[in-house]
Amino acid sequence: MKIENNVSLKSFNTFGVEAMAKQFVKVNNESELKEVLFENPSVPILILGGGSNMLLTRDLDELVIFNNMKGIAVVAESDDYVQVQASAGENWHQLVLWCLDHNYGGIENLALIPGSVGAAPIQNIGAYGVELKEVFTACHAIHVKTGESQRFDRNTCDFGYRHSIFKTTEKGNWIITSVILELSKNHHHLKTDYGAIQEQLDELGIKEPTIRDVAQAVISIRSSKLPDPKKLGNSGSFFKNPVVSKSKVENLLQSNTDMPYFELLEGDCKIPAAWLIEQSGFKGKRVGNCGAHEKQALVLVNFGDASGSDILSLATDIQNEVNRKFGILLEMEVNIL
Ligand code: FAD
Ligand code: EPU
Repeated sequence: MKIENNVSLKSFNTFGVEAMAKQFVKVNNESELKEVLFENPSVPILILGGGSNMLLTRDLDELVIFNNMKGIAVVAESDDYVQVQASAGENWHQLVLWCLDHNYGGIENLALIPGSVGAAPIQNIGAYGVELKEVFTACHAIHVKTGESQRFDRNTCDFGYRHSIFKTTEKGNWIITSVILELSKNHHHLKTDYGAIQEQLDELGIKEPTIRDVAQAVISIRSSKLPDPKKLGNSGSFFKNPVVSKSKVENLLQSNTDMPYFELLEGDCKIPAAWLIEQSGFKGKRVGNCGAHEKQALVLVNFGDASGSDILSLATDIQNEVNRKFGILLEMEVNIL
């Protein structure tokens, strides 16, 4: 384990933007991580997973710790359920595939989400009607300043839509080292009600889907609309879908009769940010070397040599225009550095 100086992070972030890390180290296990923290007590730390939910707008003075901790194991089991513990440096999608191979159900709708297992709780990853919190039992983490180990059970994480304590009150304080998920071994509770999944299964003539069928449907849908970061730099949805009051929706519907929205259990409504951005004229629009994707307006893309600041500037223009047109301030989902 060696701390390297002046390392390019271009290949470590899915936007593919250039930024230098003053100091960079790859840790393969907990003892290496503790050693790095112990030997660098007063240096600010940035923990890096797959770099698929961050926008680098500057060179980093922080010590960048690349999490490379590996391992997946069953840690508890009953007739119906299994608890799987995965190390933080495992790739999330590889974990989904591992679970499919073992016929463990619960995360098939979260197939093909890029990034590491350790980052999954940070924003409570979600897709196609499922959020991590539904299968999350606990995670283990190490405090960046004290090196103390702690277990966080689900009820202590304050999970919400793209939200957890690791993005708010405990932001930057903990390095997650592993995650424990509770998954079904049989009688899987399939979630196929998210429109496009059922359509996809119908198209393939699948009447009694398995968890693998659901994962395959999700993979097909995602591949058809989301750009592959290996070909076109991006970070998935740049903004969160805004949650607004029912009366705000009723107001907007008067002049936007075709506006899509979803009622939430709490009485508020979620409006697709992609629709707001498209209506504001940004879908498929290119500004210099970046733009909003032609198939999914919520995904900002790097056509080649855009800098993090170029992309942030476009994001701010989008925020301002959507706010001017609809009176809604979009909140960035991507972590800006
Ligand atoms: P990074 O980008 O490396 O880090 C993100 C944040 O978490 C940073 O603040 C970082 O410091 C922190 N962090 C990382 N690892 C740890 C750790 N071990 N301990 C503590 N903090 C840590 N997200 C969804 O929820 N749903 C989707 O459907 C979805 N689709 C996407 C599609 C594409 C094409 C892309 C590029 C992204 C998508 N995302 C989606 C966003 C992204 O995949 C997730 O947020 C993912 O969990 C990020 O993982 P990462 O390892 O790349 O995190
Ligand atoms: N739409 C438009 N224009 C577009 C694209 C979409 O108007 O260019 C409208 C359509 O009405 C469509 C609706 O937006 O029905 C929703 O679009 P989509 O199903 O593509 O989902 P999304 O709301 O844009 C969210 C998540 C994704 C997740 C998908 C599937 C957020 C911020 N994004 O996107 O997560 O994969 O649902 O569940 O909640 C991510 O977080 O990075 C991410 C990709």
